Amino acid sequence: MFKRKFLAAVLGTAMVASLMTGCGGAADTTSSNDDAETVTEAATEAAADDTAADDTAADDTAADDSASEDAGGKKVGIAMPTKSLERWNRDGSYLQEQFEGKGYEVSLTYSDNKIDQQVKDIEGLIADGVDLLVIAAIDGESLSQVLAEAKEENIPVISYDRLIMNTDAVSYYVSFDNYTVGKLQGEFVRDQLDLDNAKGPFNIEFTAGDPADNNAGFFFNGAFDVLKPYIDKGTLVVPSGQTSFDQVATKSWDTATAMSRFQNILGSNYSDGTQLDVALCSNDSTALGVTQAISTDYAGTNSVIVTGQDGDEANLANLVDGKQTMTVYKAVANEAVATLDLGVAILSGQTPDASLIDNAGWSFDCAYDTSSYDNGTGIIPSYLLVPTVVTKDNLQKELVDTGYYTMDENGYPHPTN
Ligand code: BGC
Repeated sequence: MFKRKFLAAVLGTAMVASLMTGCGGAADTTSSNDDAETVTEAATEAAADDTAADDTAADDTAADDSASEDAGGKKVGIAMPTKSLERWNRDGSYLQEQFEGKGYEVSLTYSDNKIDQQVKDIEGLIADGVDLLVIAAIDGESLSQVLAEAKEENIPVISYDRLIMNTDAVSYYVSFDNYTVGKLQGEFVRDQLDLDNAKGPFNIEFTAGDPADNNAGFFFNGAFDVLKPYIDKGTLVVPSGQTSFDQVATKSWDTATAMSRFQNILGSNYSDGTQLDVALCSNDSTALGVTQAISTDYAGTNSVIVTGQDGDEANLANLVDGKQTMTVYKAVANEAVATLDLGVAILSGQTPDASLIDNAGWSFDCAYDTSSYDNGTGIIPSYLLVPTVVTKDNLQKELVDTGYYTMDENGYPHPTN
């Protein structure tokens, strides 16, 4: 089928360079190391399905053989935060398939967004004798102790997507340019409302992410820095008065929490007929709650500009239906490719730097950054990928034609992995 082949071809470009196989299906289990084994089985079964990964795997047999030899029986521990926020399911399965494709044994854990559980899961991975840890932290501040154990055992740590704070055990950080994610949201609002020329005033409300996630501040600041001059000028007004990160943050990036906060905002500031023009949301899980609040508790009839991030399935349906206006898409398949190549380089004793990007020949852009991300113990060298704005108008081109999603007969996109 064209789309599957196309995905194989797209991912294949990166794979030729990195000698790895593709991505597979999402597994469906929760936390702890016991569960990690279940995840491995489920993902293996999923990979056996007729997916794009199979097409690629078949083409790459020779590479796989030599890859297994390279891996030399090494184990990779992957700790993801939760299955309840959609993207981490994609991250986990991409990472697992790709490291396994290179011949590594993989243990994948999900910790149900519970900090203590993630600490236990990582302890389990260390006890299992993993050679590399790839961690997307639930709370960036809570892993210092367990990662001191990893350091003691000489296990290198890649901080995946979210920066792990206050530990010198982190070797590298792989993410998207998080400030740019927010900047793209702010610029989208600026351009939609033509803020440089329009008189306004327009009413805007902000919803940000989890304060325990180091990314959340970058997203909020990226957007706020673009929009603040218009707030200062009076072209944009925030009727709730909530403009600081702490006021607009959403614990655990939780949809229901974002919804009830927004219902309160609408009840207190918009029930008199005041028009809401923009709901600036840092990501899709919060945008989902905010659009729900708008649909039940907003009396106005205008279509509110709603931003997001990730390309979650329900949010893409909302884009199609006009309930959300944009999302910032981050190709987590590519984030996993960068992590794989970085992990392989570390495990083969190299000290990767900018040359990793030059040598990899990836089909996507990535910057090596040695100034932006200080985790409290010093700058963590970072590989930062580039996010893309997705709207109803370019959804087909950016998400479907690239093979990341398929479109159903009713015009709604669904993730391929
Ligand atoms: C990720 C976002 C995601 C959020 C909630 C952040 O750390 O970068 O892509 O929307 O967590 O899962």
